[in-house]
Amino acid sequence: MARLLDGVLEATVVGSFSRVGYLARRATQGWGDPPRLEGKVLVVTGASSGIGRAVALALGRLGAEVWVLGRDAGRTEAVAQAIRAEGGLAEAALVDVADGSAVDAFAERFASARGRLDGLVHGAGALLRDYALSAGGCELTVATHVLGPFRLTWRLAPHLQRARPSTIVTVSSGGMYTERFDLDRLEMDREHYDGVRAYARAKRAQVVLAREWSRRWSAQGVASYAMHPGWVDTPGLASGLPSFSHLGSLLRRPEEGADTAVWLSAGAARPVTDEGTAGSPPDEDGFWHDRRHRGEHYLPWTRPRHGEAEQGRQLWQWCAVRTGLGSDP
Ligand SMILES: NC(=O)c1ccc[n+]([C@@H]2O[C@H](COP(=O)([O-])OP(=O)(O)OC[C@H]3O[C@@H](n4cnc5c(N)ncnc54)[C@H](OP(=O)(O)O)[C@@H]3O)[C@@H](O)[C@H]2O)c1
Repeated sequence: MARLLDGVLEATVVGSFSRVGYLARRATQGWGDPPRLEGKVLVVTGASSGIGRAVALALGRLGAEVWVLGRDAGRTEAVAQAIRAEGGLAEAALVDVADGSAVDAFAERFASARGRLDGLVHGAGALLRDYALSAGGCELTVATHVLGPFRLTWRLAPHLQRARPSTIVTVSSGGMYTERFDLDRLEMDREHYDGVRAYARAKRAQVVLAREWSRRWSAQGVASYAMHPGWVDTPGLASGLPSFSHLGSLLRRPEEGADTAVWLSAGAARPVTDEGTAGSPPDEDGFWHDRRHRGEHYLPWTRPRHGEAEQGRQLWQWCAVRTGLGSDP
């Protein structure tokens, strides 16, 4: 019955993405608390606001030491302080993920402070209406959602591998369902820039990249998941897609949009193996929403022409060249 209801919700986008889907699934699927995280260290980007903030607070309540990454000093430190005020452990760090030197500086700071990393959550993101370039000369939507997470993950990969089992969770978007992955159309130029399309393509690329991390590192105990949070009442939604405010109480609260990212970060979806250390196979890592593995394509023309593994290899190679990093950490 719960599965049938889930399927009906999934078939109606409003039912699935809105607060109705979250509440109905939580009520009918017997969701429990995610596993406790005492002794674990997690890094969350975009943690100064909205969904990332809710992820950081929830991980702190589960007992993890949380590295709260943001751009605004006051709001980032306030989240770290809120975790500490509840008796948790938190460090604040200012990192613009679209700025390669800021990412590298953070990775150095983290490496000298901690030798292992149990989870990395890529929450930073924005729908940018106007064309802009990053410090490194890449279109900013792609720099923020694709190259930034690639660089940060590349730099932190040795710590993730040391902590095995560990997780990478990427907060993508249901908007990615509208676009197929096409490397040639990923980075738009100023003349053709369309913020909504650029965002959807970058969010599709995030899912491809998450799968590639999984393909490369699951045997080393690193599970990588992408998820979408549904429609969530946040400052980012209000500025990026103001028309969504008409949905009013149908919008999810930040902690509801954050739920699946927290649950995945806590390792709740990880299959138990004899060694207890393996990541899960890439097919199972895939794309998640409301604590369930979901399909990556609603529309037939978004399906890959040459296979998903090939997309991942292409994107990895492109990111390695654009960031100037080698092919392996
Ligand atoms: N809200 C939704 O309905 C929805 C739906 C699907 C997916 N998402 C995704 O969920 C994630 C969180 O979004 P949100 O709705 O919670 O929006 P939000 O409240 O605006 O939070 C976005 C966070 O990302 C940070 N950020 C943006 N660009 C950054 C950069 N270059 N470097 C470092 N941090 C950066 C923001 O920092 P500042 O505070 O400094 O701007 C903020 O902390 C995003 O990836 C978004 O695409 C949201």
